[in-house]
Amino acid sequence: MHPDTARAHILLGIETSCDETAAALVRREADGSGRILSSVVRSQLDLHKAYGGVVPEIAARAHVDLLDAAILQALEEAKIKLDQVDGVAAAAGPGLIGGLIVGVTTAKAVALGRGVPFIAVNHLEAHALTPGLTHRLAFPYLLLLVSGGHTQLLVIKDVGVYERLGTTLDDALGEAFDKAAKLLGLGYPGGPEVERLAAKGRPTIKLPRPMVGREEPHFSLAGLKTALRHEAEARAPLSEQDAADLCASFQEAVAEILSDRVTRAFELYERHAGRGAQRILVVSGGVAANRRLRSTLEATARKHIFRLVVPPPELCTDNAAMIAWAGAVRLSRGLADELSAPARARWPLDPDAPPAIGAGVKA
Ligand code: KG4
Ligand code: ZN
Repeated sequence: MHPDTARAHILLGIETSCDETAAALVRREADGSGRILSSVVRSQLDLHKAYGGVVPEIAARAHVDLLDAAILQALEEAKIKLDQVDGVAAAAGPGLIGGLIVGVTTAKAVALGRGVPFIAVNHLEAHALTPGLTHRLAFPYLLLLVSGGHTQLLVIKDVGVYERLGTTLDDALGEAFDKAAKLLGLGYPGGPEVERLAAKGRPTIKLPRPMVGREEPHFSLAGLKTALRHEAEARAPLSEQDAADLCASFQEAVAEILSDRVTRAFELYERHAGRGAQRILVVSGGVAANRRLRSTLEATARKHIFRLVVPPPELCTDNAAMIAWAGAVRLSRGLADELSAPARARWPLDPDAPPAIGAGVKA
């Protein structure tokens, strides 16, 4: 049994691992249910837009500028005073180290000042535990995490017990969308732009489906992006219709890749989650916003008798409510951290997972 404490906790959560400066307050009841009291997300999008991607040094400085106000706003909106907070959680990795240090140092200072526990949260774990907050989902379940920085298939067995089935060998899926948009001269972030234009196009341009059919559910997206560039160059100068057809073809290729890789993960699921384990696929990360990909995943899940669970968009993308929630879950199990706990640029959820290169892929 877990030492699940029989009392409610109010957690302050801080997220600064990438380009969102976020603070939130979450209340977790003794019965395991949870409620978001406030969730403030200050996007730095405008600061990075001109560069077509996140600039780490600019992000770190912006977190310094924005974080205190975000925390104050979160407290105000929740109508909570700092002395009512039972713990402070910060995303301590993986991510951009400058930003992580800002969030972790701030969280430690508040925790020390108030005399409450500090919880160093793994950003990926926070994504992984979000369905407990949004759907009161019990363990285990399969998680497809697809964002600008991550592309992973994980079996979520319990708090702190995660088995990675698949990851990307190169680009993350959201990054592939961003790069596709960039080479077609579309805006940043690229995913929504590609989806918008794809709706006007036909998926008639032949593009590769890297990794499809492979034994292990890994991903590789660099080759798809390169093929897209060659097709775009062959058609230059691009008409609006050319660009739309390229977007539709790219999105279609991604949909087929996702369907194939997730199907493979479904086949492996019971081996990891246990025989008769509930069949649930959770999809999270910014790319989960894509309607075409969602409908493909919905159909794939239905075919294999999995239920699809997608947290609401504001909890799929980076936010601090998920950090506060993960902190509350950990605190309820007595899993607080020392103030010496470091920020970590790399922090795999499943350190024992064999390297993806072992999938028979040539380096
Ligand atoms: O989770 P997120 O907000 O931030 C992190 O990367 O952690 O994900 C952002 C990523 C970007 O790469 C963006 O292009 C992608 O999610 N994205 C989409 C869509 N909306 C956002 N990709 C495909 N289709 C979309 N509609
Ligand atoms: Zn994230």
